[in-house]
Amino acid sequence: MIASAPGKIILFGEHAVVYGRHAVVSAINLRCRVKVKKSAIFKIKSVLGETGLDFDRHPYVVQAVRRFMEVKNIPGAEIEIESDIPVGSGLGSSGAVTVATVAALNAEFDGGMDKEDIFRMARQVEIDVQGRASGIDPFISTFGDSWLFPERKKVLMPFKFFVINLGSRSTAEMVRRVAELREKHPEVIERIFDSIDAISLEAAEITSEDRLEELIAINQSLLRAIGVSNPEIDRTIAELERKGLRAKITGAGGGGCIFGLYRGEKPEGSFVVEPEKEGVRIEE
Ligand code: PMV
Repeated sequence: MIASAPGKIILFGEHAVVYGRHAVVSAINLRCRVKVKKSAIFKIKSVLGETGLDFDRHPYVVQAVRRFMEVKNIPGAEIEIESDIPVGSGLGSSGAVTVATVAALNAEFDGGMDKEDIFRMARQVEIDVQGRASGIDPFISTFGDSWLFPERKKVLMPFKFFVINLGSRSTAEMVRRVAELREKHPEVIERIFDSIDAISLEAAEITSEDRLEELIAINQSLLRAIGVSNPEIDRTIAELERKGLRAKITGAGGGGCIFGLYRGEKPEGSFVVEPEKEGVRIEE
């Protein structure tokens, strides 16, 4: 059986969401496909190599197998992963591979799990591998669509986005840096989080491209203020601004991806994504 699940793009609210503020997140039309075939042994194949149940190389897939085996004991499986989603750059590749793996195991071995069960197991896997996590990625990869968090209210997002990938970075490291800055200047940083919160709430109701672009620019300035931009991001965004475009970090920052509203002009080095309605699905 093959299952696929979409990646995600955080449109507004990263970092602030860690401190209880709102975020707006969309599933995107880049998917991860996982093929699972019954076998006497475990074999995992991906761009990261071909392994057995090697947690160091394939942590999310191996942990998904372990959790699935608490539901149903299986002797082995051949697992093949293929993904459109760049790894480690904030577009939800880990969440998508986890959800697709659980769904494909469930389909191949008749695990009897529904979507809610798949989401819960993928969320547990994310916690097992990363420690504390918001659960946004497995939620989006399971259910698709665009949402306001934490209340999980669906939002309309009739726009396309250009994305520029500036390379991988560590989410945990960026979250730690923000925590340190907040320790030093709690009054200042909390107010920035409140402003980001207001941006997410406004964005969840928006239908105008111009207004959305204004929020993109404001949110980026606030992300810069909390120290998660870097000179390369600043330079790239400044170049885009010279061409009349607006862009911001998506995800943890310090590298990773930046995005802006796609209005028919694709900046050099970018690719275009659009919100995806469909979450995890069985392909065959
Ligand atoms: O870059 P990503 O997809 O790992 O997103 C991180 C988002 C943060 O708000 C920075 C952390 C979180 O857990 O929400």
